[in-house]
Amino acid sequence: MTPPITTGAAAPRHFLDLWRLDAPTLRALLDEAHRRKAARRGWPKGKVDADAPLKDRVLAMVFEKNSTRTRFSFDAAVRQLGGAAIIANAGDMQLGRGEPLEDTARVLSRMVDAVMIRANRHEDVERFAQASAAPVINGLTDKSHPCQILADLMTVEEHLGPVAGKRFAWVGDGNNVCASLIHASGPLGYAVTIACPPDYHPDLIDLARAGGGKVEVTHDPKLAVLGADAVFTDTWVSMGDQDYDARLSAFGPYQVDATLMSRAAEHAIFLHCLPAHRGEEVTEAVIDGPQSVIFDEAENRIHAQKAVLAWCFGAV
Ligand code: CP
Ligand code: NVA
Repeated sequence: MTPPITTGAAAPRHFLDLWRLDAPTLRALLDEAHRRKAARRGWPKGKVDADAPLKDRVLAMVFEKNSTRTRFSFDAAVRQLGGAAIIANAGDMQLGRGEPLEDTARVLSRMVDAVMIRANRHEDVERFAQASAAPVINGLTDKSHPCQILADLMTVEEHLGPVAGKRFAWVGDGNNVCASLIHASGPLGYAVTIACPPDYHPDLIDLARAGGGKVEVTHDPKLAVLGADAVFTDTWVSMGDQDYDARLSAFGPYQVDATLMSRAAEHAIFLHCLPAHRGEEVTEAVIDGPQSVIFDEAENRIHAQKAVLAWCFGAV
């Protein structure tokens, strides 16, 4: 068994899951993201924010799975906060040859100020954080994607105002992104109706952890989207899923098309974390149509993660 870290320093502020954060913290993160975005409107993307809260700080990013948005948005975020990033694919590290996670966490804790990790197994991120003296950020696991949902909630607020009191429909796979949407529903006061096939319910433990969130599950997408303020979906086959054919046939009736969107509120927006598969979980008409906010959503990964990074270092 790995001995615990004994640095004597205060426990690091890890960002592992939204259900671990209380309402004031979640609200403060969203407010910080909005504030930072507004403060640098029109600036070149590489210009450092006036307060540079990550000056002299280094973030390590470790990827066990592919990434475009998470990789680039964290790198851009750290630079805008005045810090630097070191990026590695786990397969190129000794991790890929079986070096224990705990040893890796301890080594990186001596070399960098924070670690973002995208992992196949959620429990590995938890173990990494346990052993790390530096803050650890969950950059997606099989169970959750908290950075994505923070950016999504920020995007909703830009288009529709505060998330409190809103009702969101999640259509399709009750996956990692869906779980994080559920996790913040209680503290932030929005409701989520999930429409998914019977075999693809979101993790019921995640539901239990949602902390008083208004969460309903149905198998009828028409019911879920009726009057919703925002409609979310995601790929039917996430990274690591093996049952491609079974999924494609189970999810067929859960495609978000224009007819389904027309049942949502007139002001409803469409969100997708990307990458998307046009013609599978969503039609081209919807994802490239006027209700879609997917590129605001992608950009907001930078602003939301800047809030997370600043929070990890006590600046929020
Ligand atoms: N949405 C998201 O996390 O995208 P990447 O897999 O490209 O990082
Ligand atoms: N649910 C998807 C999200 C990708 C950003 C996956 O895990 O592959």
